[in-house]
Amino acid sequence: MKTIIEPFKIKMVEPIALTTPQEREEILRRAHFNVFQIPAEQVIIDLLTDSGTSAMSAEQWAGMLRGDEAYAGARSWFRFERVVRELTGIPHILPTHQGRASERILFELVGGRGKVIPSNNHFDTTRANIEHSGAEAVDLVIDEGTQPRTRHPFKGNLDPRKLEELIARVGARHIPLCMVTVTNNSGGGQPVSMANLHEVREICHRHAIPLFLDACRFAENAYLIKRRERGWDSASPRAIARAMFDLADGATISAKKDGLVNIGGVLLMRDDQLAERANNLLILTEGFVTYGGLAGRDLEAMAQGFTEVLDEDYLHYRVRSVEYLGEHLLEAGVHIVEPPGGHAIYIDAAAFCPHIPQSQFPGQALVCALYRHAGIRAVEIGSVMFGRVDPDTGEVSYPPMELVRLAVPRRVYTQSHIDYVVEAVVEVFERRNTIRGLRIVEEPRALRHFTAQFEAVAG
Ligand SMILES: Cc1ncc(COP(=O)(O)O)c(C=O)c1O
Repeated sequence: MKTIIEPFKIKMVEPIALTTPQEREEILRRAHFNVFQIPAEQVIIDLLTDSGTSAMSAEQWAGMLRGDEAYAGARSWFRFERVVRELTGIPHILPTHQGRASERILFELVGGRGKVIPSNNHFDTTRANIEHSGAEAVDLVIDEGTQPRTRHPFKGNLDPRKLEELIARVGARHIPLCMVTVTNNSGGGQPVSMANLHEVREICHRHAIPLFLDACRFAENAYLIKRRERGWDSASPRAIARAMFDLADGATISAKKDGLVNIGGVLLMRDDQLAERANNLLILTEGFVTYGGLAGRDLEAMAQGFTEVLDEDYLHYRVRSVEYLGEHLLEAGVHIVEPPGGHAIYIDAAAFCPHIPQSQFPGQALVCALYRHAGIRAVEIGSVMFGRVDPDTGEVSYPPMELVRLAVPRRVYTQSHIDYVVEAVVEVFERRNTIRGLRIVEEPRALRHFTAQFEAVAG
């Protein structure tokens, strides 16, 4: 059969409230043109994030009821620990309430002034936690990873040459660890190949630098390795995921992605001493070591989610439905990051709105246009998220790409929802010349995309 169906049936439904373009114009104004400020009930199709937005399975809900809420040594903890150990083989497993809690603990321990932490691309919370510790976060993705239209099967790869150069320039003793983000969210949801992980691991090993994975989307990365990398096509996603973790000295995971849960995270490490210090911090701010910042029922849901996510039929449907969205946009002439990533389609907003300069946030302007036109909530991954203003000189530095991410929640939307998205993007594309730029009127000191306020630039 050519048609790939959702490999699940729907047992529970949530209504979607439909709004008019006039209503949405007013909503946008009230939100100061920042879609993070729009109530979710006023969104028709919510593609803001794939994080924490998954639909849980009947087995996950059953696990929620079975959750053991004992403070220490709960049955749910032992199930969770067993599942994560079988999946990763990493001995020290710390539950946290979400990915950034794992990052905060890790970088409080290894970060600090004078330290440099490389990655293919740090996600925004990872970068913010590293910088908060006083350390410097450096992105070393391969050049193809910053060229939206260059086709490369593993555009998330970390450039080994750039890593060697960094080590030579700053010295290995200033690099407490190297991260690799799988898949590379900030770089277009692009996967990292097994060969690249081996190469990075070899360099790190040679310089005694631990290698950590930001493994939020380990299952999608594993499936894309199976599909695209020679030698892995007959391996199971589980075996590939395990081979990825076998190369790592530790990992941070937000289970809100491939854990198929609405809240949860994990911090993993092999080093006994580091783990002991991490456990002390965990107790200080998250909770006792057998629950972290979570309830027993959350641990049950995560354990089940980490199991279900490696189902090959699920991963096939997941990756194909994102590709389907990307292929239809490409057919209509919309430029996207190619090839489509694992969890999202990234529209090249600079190409979509060539009449809007980077200083007027073409990505944010496109996000607003999509909401206004069809009630679709996307997110800007460009100058709002990553632009930097030098506090001394006032000079602005811009990221290499202006992207708008359409992140697809797991197991939530059907093919007709995705068809609606295609139609909406294409219609906005046809009238793209009418989209106007924005200027920031208020912004916080860090992570400004969440709360910055904008106004339209006069046309
Ligand atoms: C690659 C990556 N790392 C870290 C995080 C942070 O995870 P959380 O939102 O659970 O704190 C995210 C969230 O989107 C992510 O995509």
